[in-house]
Amino acid sequence: MGDKVKKLIDKLNKNKHLDREEWLTVLGEWDESDREYAADIARAVSEGVFGKKIYIRGIVEFSNVCKNDCLYCGIRRSNKNAQRYRLTDDEILMCCDEGYEYGFRTFVLQSGEDLSYSAKRIADIVSRIKKAHPDCAVTLSLGEKEYDELKLMRQAGADRYLLRHETANEEHYKKLHPSDMSFSHRMKCLEDLKSLGYQTGAGIMVGSPYQTIDCLADDMAFFESFRPEMIGIGPFLPHKDTPFCDEPKGSYELTLFLLSLCRILLPRVLLPATTALGTIRPNGREQGVLSGANVIMPNLSPTAVRKKYMLYDGKICTEDSSDECRSCIQARMKRIGYEVEISRGDFK
Ligand code: 5AD
Ligand code: FES
Repeated sequence: MGDKVKKLIDKLNKNKHLDREEWLTVLGEWDESDREYAADIARAVSEGVFGKKIYIRGIVEFSNVCKNDCLYCGIRRSNKNAQRYRLTDDEILMCCDEGYEYGFRTFVLQSGEDLSYSAKRIADIVSRIKKAHPDCAVTLSLGEKEYDELKLMRQAGADRYLLRHETANEEHYKKLHPSDMSFSHRMKCLEDLKSLGYQTGAGIMVGSPYQTIDCLADDMAFFESFRPEMIGIGPFLPHKDTPFCDEPKGSYELTLFLLSLCRILLPRVLLPATTALGTIRPNGREQGVLSGANVIMPNLSPTAVRKKYMLYDGKICTEDSSDECRSCIQARMKRIGYEVEISRGDFK
């Protein structure tokens, strides 16, 4: 029965649901022709919703200080080789102003879990950005926060929040994080974000250490039930100064396949072709778009700090300026027949 996986992909497209056993079959038995089959469907689904438009989001990586010690992450607190930096409020604002000139209408403020930026301080930064650029969306990606903090930042005008769940399997979660971090708190944050009216992003690394097909089936079931407005998926890439330095990279092909499956499952989801995907292959982001992704998030951080925000080895774009990344993306999209869209690009 060579068509088993393709039939299940058709079923997913029709019903927007697969049972756990069916997910296990798809994720455990797919081959290259199934991947291409899913990519063709995903691309058509994406085109039906978004046309040939790709949304861009400018990421400002404003601090690499982190109180956490995630085993996979290059900016974990135990990494004594990381040169730590923090941007001032004015510097963050300036990055957004620069981005606005280049046509960005969404700014993503991302950092490690740095306690020196209180919720109040972030709320002030968000209101300043919103005041300067009322036509823009502000997305936060600051790690886990408490309900009242998330509420304060939401009231200040933050529209969206990215918090990858990393894995929907609690046992797996424990193997990726130290014991002072908990799966239940991460999931609670995601619930809080939704209930506060944020457009909420979840997501995973593909091929993170100890990930199994069972874990991925849990992730797909989680996406189906939680229905995030955004999904961030990239391959795991090792960082030399972490406990996972000798672990293998995640699979490029499996990452593309999962992007397609997410697009088919949730046709309207905002799905970036991630920087990690562009790092594992020179044309990874283009292939991500051709597999159903519809968002690209170029860097808006000052070039001086880019090399310091190294979550994994080999990260691309650390030598380039913001306008270079912007034109690079434009040219890459044009080459594959897509166009960069200048609007907020909300989930609808
Ligand atoms: N490889 C790939 N992605 C990583 N991230 C963190 N470390 C790595 C790594 N070594 C991802 C995590 C996090 C996001 C900001 O970056 O999924 O949520
Ligand atoms: Fe900072 Fe993981 S090391 S959130």
